[in-house]
Amino acid sequence: QGRRSFGSEAREVHVAQHKVGPQGHGRKLNAWTQWGELKECVVGVADNACFPPVQPAMIPEINDPVLRNVLGEWPRGRKSQRCIDAANQELDNLVNVLEGEGVKTLRPEVMDWSQPLRTPLFAVENQYVACCVRDTVITVGKTAIEAAMSRRDRYFEILAVRQILRDLWREDPEMLWKAAPKPSMADDMYDLSWWDWTDEERYEHMHKYRYCINNEEPIFDAADITRCGKDIFVQPSMTCNYAGIEWLRRELAPQGIRVHSAHFPYDLAPSHIDCTFVILGPHLVLTNPERPIADRDAEFWKENGWQFVDCGQPDNPERPAFSQSSKWLSMNIFVIGPGKVIVEEQEKGLQNLLKHQCGFTTVIPIPFRNVFEYGGSLHCSTWDTRREDDMVDLFP
Ligand code: NVA
Repeated sequence: QGRRSFGSEAREVHVAQHKVGPQGHGRKLNAWTQWGELKECVVGVADNACFPPVQPAMIPEINDPVLRNVLGEWPRGRKSQRCIDAANQELDNLVNVLEGEGVKTLRPEVMDWSQPLRTPLFAVENQYVACCVRDTVITVGKTAIEAAMSRRDRYFEILAVRQILRDLWREDPEMLWKAAPKPSMADDMYDLSWWDWTDEERYEHMHKYRYCINNEEPIFDAADITRCGKDIFVQPSMTCNYAGIEWLRRELAPQGIRVHSAHFPYDLAPSHIDCTFVILGPHLVLTNPERPIADRDAEFWKENGWQFVDCGQPDNPERPAFSQSSKWLSMNIFVIGPGKVIVEEQEKGLQNLLKHQCGFTTVIPIPFRNVFEYGGSLHCSTWDTRREDDMVDLFP
């Protein structure tokens, strides 16, 4: 008596009032490959960036020995406004370049990452930044997959693109929206002893592919994945374990997507495949000369007719003192369509290689070195939401 009815009629009214379900505005989520014509993508923002706190998934180091001596320890709290503004200027320029190429761009929400975070199982003094959107979410065909990340300071980073996901899901009736189980990030998810290994020990164990996370829970950063249509390849790394690869395999098998692992034994502390093995187009991969793919994986690619082209050494191997990524950010290029690529402006050798040996007709150099501070370059700081491509089968 006097209580509201929650029968099916009432539910339908509720659904209509709240605009749940497809609205049919015609936007589509679609990206099967790394090379299809790019139509829409998200570009990260550096606002409110903080230094990543020391944690089981990341023990950061100042990579400039002089500054390391001066400062003594890893800094805490907010990054300087100058460093944020410099990165934002380059990110905004990337937006302009993409728009000029006919790509619609979207940006993450500006959030306050200086807030501490406490869950029942861990606490961190501050969060990070929504610059490398590539790490938090991936489009695989018509499915957006929120990653199961390992870093505590990045636990809520996905919220910066939640509105974009909401809008896409409402507008595209075919889109699937999945989120991997949110990792507990409890201490027992990590193998702290890995941090004590010397480089020699890491080298000895390199074929075991064991890093600072164990296999208690599925873990992966979206940037550990690369797409070739019906097949996707995932790198076991500091940010991706075999349980994470198995989770992807089970989730994507019903759609006919085959999930493979890709191993790079000579990278002793790997994370993210996009400075190591960069797919340029059908049957062509840019490879890292210091991080060859494992022989058993290479065979599979070669027997399916793929060619590997080694990248040269970076023209400028310098990186900012607090960047936790390597000189190979030079390889973190962004292919925006067949034969079309954006490359960091100082990497002239790579620009020439792409033009003269890899069939690229449009090579667009842009300044991006101030974004290196946040661990990524052009590919890392983007998330493609729409490419004109299909579920091609290049491993028949
Ligand atoms: N871990 C990679 C960076 C990936 C963006 C590297 O340092 O080369």
